[in-house]
Amino acid sequence: MSAVVVIGSQWGDEGKGKVVDVFSAQADWVVRYQGGANAGHTLIVDGKKTVLHLIPSGILHSHTKCLIASGVVIDIVQLAKEIDGLKKNNFLKDPSQLMISDKATVLLSYHKQLDQAREAFSKNEKIGTTGKGIGPAYEDRASRKAILFGDLFNTSVLKEKIEKSLKEKNFLLEHFYKQKPISAETALQEITESINILKNYCCTNSSHIIYKAIAKKEKVLFEGAQGSLLDLLHGTYPFVTSSSTISSSACIGTGIGPQNIKKVLGITKAYTTRVGAGPFPTELNDTVGDFLQKNGHEFGATTGRTRRCGWIDIPALKYAIRINGISSIALMKLDVLSGLETIKICTAYKMGESTTTDYPSSPGEIAKAKPIYLEMPGWKEDITTCLQKKELPKKALNYISTLEQHLKIPIDVISVGPDRGQSIWINSLF
Ligand code: IMP
Repeated sequence: MSAVVVIGSQWGDEGKGKVVDVFSAQADWVVRYQGGANAGHTLIVDGKKTVLHLIPSGILHSHTKCLIASGVVIDIVQLAKEIDGLKKNNFLKDPSQLMISDKATVLLSYHKQLDQAREAFSKNEKIGTTGKGIGPAYEDRASRKAILFGDLFNTSVLKEKIEKSLKEKNFLLEHFYKQKPISAETALQEITESINILKNYCCTNSSHIIYKAIAKKEKVLFEGAQGSLLDLLHGTYPFVTSSSTISSSACIGTGIGPQNIKKVLGITKAYTTRVGAGPFPTELNDTVGDFLQKNGHEFGATTGRTRRCGWIDIPALKYAIRINGISSIALMKLDVLSGLETIKICTAYKMGESTTTDYPSSPGEIAKAKPIYLEMPGWKEDITTCLQKKELPKKALNYISTLEQHLKIPIDVISVGPDRGQSIWINSLF
């Protein structure tokens, strides 16, 4: 078996894009299976920056095929823009490098309008969504009203579906959220140009394509978006996204059986960040939090929002390891911790009078959890040029081995900077 799932083990933004980009060099396929343009991968290759929201980062390797599977919600205009941008930068020269499932869900501007109107209307109960229309698009899918990617290429079906969808959406927009309705003609006009760009990439039977690749022992990498604690069912609900972000979602989103998954790599930042609302026990509202935010350039790639920062959280990570079946970890942004006098690891929580190492199951309980910290001396050295584990300062090695002891799984990759080359490889992915 040759299929590996790469997922975020915290609240997203762990650095999945960089890991997937690097491992794509060894992969035959990279598959996106959930989420939408709420994700954002910033990739630095030879000092050049590429930001991708929908297209798997494997696209930067010309020999790697990329597939956007049925579980993804696709912002049509955004996807066409990404394709255009890649082509301008001399990537995606061969259209057969990218395939998009005809069964994926289409996300249009009215989904974004609804998402943003809801957030604005919510006043004190905001989720802090990215405003990219993810919730409304998945709602359409669940209520069986979605426009599918394949529908884009049948003008009469598309027109009929948009008209039908807008009857309900416009009622909500106009009468509940007091916003301007949108006409079917405008919605269609907005995507006409994009449809032309996308028609070369639509594929049928995407689950069979992946099945055949796995059967031929080709190396398939499933690229998760967001993080485990944002999972619709198992995250800090309601402060979550609208898709399943855990590893089993790779099977659902693509239509392959679970026995095909060989390994789950959990991408984990050396500290914790969160964007949007919701409980965050190890959050630091102090100078150390500011240090992490500034040093780690912790701004969302999709919304530009400042990310909340805090110490690494072992109970939360152990929960993520359990619900995903994570077999090893890629520890990201270790270099950001350089210069801190002391580094803290949350090993347990104080809950009222008692102590627990378990992650509480409700956001109310998580909000009450008081972290119990293990304090470790930090290191001063710049580690951004270290290419081997043994080149790291002793105190950094101590931090890594302490994490491994607590998490009880190995750290296979250590990232010490944003560039492809700034990575220490301990074990290979495939
Ligand atoms: P939505 O996915 O836009 O509906 O947002 C729901 C929650 O998930 C909000 O707290 C967002 O900040 C968060 N979120 C969504 N996508 C990402 C991501 O790629 N990284 C980090 N947080 C995200």
